[in-house]
Amino acid sequence: MTELSAAYAAAVTDRSRLAGSAYSSGRDLAARQSLYQWQTPRYDLPGIVAEKLSGVRKRGRVVDVGCGNGKFIQRLREDRPDLALLGLDIAPGILADVPGLVAVADATRLPLTAGSVDAALALHMLYHVPDIPLAVRELSRVVSRDGLVIASTNSDRDKAELDDLWRRAAGDVLGIGRGPARISLSARFSLEKASAFLGEEFGRVETMELPGTITVDDPEPVIAHMASYRAWADQHDVPFDATIERARTILVEHIDQHRVFEITCLGGVLVCRR
Ligand SMILES: C[S@@+](CC[C@H](N)C(=O)[O-])C[C@H]1O[C@@H](n2cnc3c(N)ncnc32)[C@H](O)[C@@H]1O
Repeated sequence: MTELSAAYAAAVTDRSRLAGSAYSSGRDLAARQSLYQWQTPRYDLPGIVAEKLSGVRKRGRVVDVGCGNGKFIQRLREDRPDLALLGLDIAPGILADVPGLVAVADATRLPLTAGSVDAALALHMLYHVPDIPLAVRELSRVVSRDGLVIASTNSDRDKAELDDLWRRAAGDVLGIGRGPARISLSARFSLEKASAFLGEEFGRVETMELPGTITVDDPEPVIAHMASYRAWADQHDVPFDATIERARTILVEHIDQHRVFEITCLGGVLVCRR
């Protein structure tokens, strides 16, 4: 591992940063999630997860590891009121509004006995775990023999236009051509890497790719998304707020000229069985 990637991994997985700042409440996560309302096609991710759980027996147990603001738990409570749901997260603050049974817990030390759940969810969270193989082993340990694990993440190519916008804005702030890249949260467990990690424990890993395009005619949802990385502001070798302001100006000019700003997205859901 190079020095740069070690520093990057430390910032993305740092527990005090995750629990104390990035996910101390659901605010920044909600800003990131809300950009998808402008995506075409629109994927109903909680609905997709609920559908993947349709084979789970009545009154089965499902644990959502890194449940965040409880978006998936809330939906499962509506679609599958029979299930016994448990939400776990290392950030106590973000659990405040999650309905039902929740606990503070680490994905690498799940407070569950072996084979005790029918399904485990690890949605957009494994990239935050310092030891990803250990977390995958934990997910495998707690799931019953014929149970399943559902993970999700983004591709390395996801939202390339936002990366480009950041580098242009950062370059303008610094008075150079293209500025330094912004932090990528999912890179450690991107869609390109995920099946290899999961394949260490699961014989069958089915990947469902979810490509789409976000189209906005207003800069603010894009700016809110960019600003939701504030917890990692110190990891950008450029003043964070000044770069956001410059990005807003570039976006306004782009939308004036082209009517809309488009962002190509690629996320994915991985369903794992033994
Ligand atoms: C990007 S959010 C995803 C939340 C939710 N799963 C979703 O898809 O909407 C990542 C969540 O994982 C949690 N997390 C990060 N590292 C964790 C760990 N080692 N164990 C448990 N939760 C963790 C964070 O606190 C945060 O709430």
